[in-house]
Amino acid sequence: MKSIKLKNGRLETLLSNTIELFYNDSVRELSKTLPDRKDKLIPDLDPCSDDYLFTAFKLKLSDYGYPRALRGTPQADMEKMRPENKTIAKLPVAISRISRFLGSPNNALSMYYPEDGFIGWHHNGNAPGYNILMTYSIDGDGGFSFWDYDTKSIHTIPDKKGWSVKVGYYPNERKEADRVYWHMAKTKKERITIAWVINQKEMWKNMIDEISQGDYNRDDVLRQ
Ligand SMILES: [Fe+2]
Repeated sequence: MKSIKLKNGRLETLLSNTIELFYNDSVRELSKTLPDRKDKLIPDLDPCSDDYLFTAFKLKLSDYGYPRALRGTPQADMEKMRPENKTIAKLPVAISRISRFLGSPNNALSMYYPEDGFIGWHHNGNAPGYNILMTYSIDGDGGFSFWDYDTKSIHTIPDKKGWSVKVGYYPNERKEADRVYWHMAKTKKERITIAWVINQKEMWKNMIDEISQGDYNRDDVLRQ
């Protein structure tokens, strides 16, 4: 993943409208009632640790497409569990506004991380494609980490205060099994991620252009 600048004022407004919908007592209360998702295949290791990743490397690739361990609440689950809640009902509306503004890509996942929230190591090779991740952090105390095949080491992109945007590509676990994109994220304070997966590279490029107003390093960003 590469970071790009968020320079589109309209998009910034649409994104800021979602903050109070995620950061409110309905969501916090719901999130507290949900137990952590635990990985039964690797029950004894911190799902964001290096050891967990190295253990997962030896297991079946298809078991780690989706995160097996997490502490957080997908927006889709909120709607299912609290269909009567008026604040939660506004979330899909606010997110689909962003989606329409960006040219209607599929919104793959919107996620609320509570305090000390995390999403354990996984690779999304079961939902391959170009992607765009928009993250909100109160003070940038969280981050996104990934496995770098070139250096054979873990890199971390720290969150920034406010919104930040990362773009990348998730290889297919069947066709590109040797280069699937292992990643995890964790945070101390509450965090939001809104993610899109895009099948066509051209559409992904157009979205990057729109978000950054064309201000990005093409060689670096598009070479993914
Ligand atoms: Fe992911």
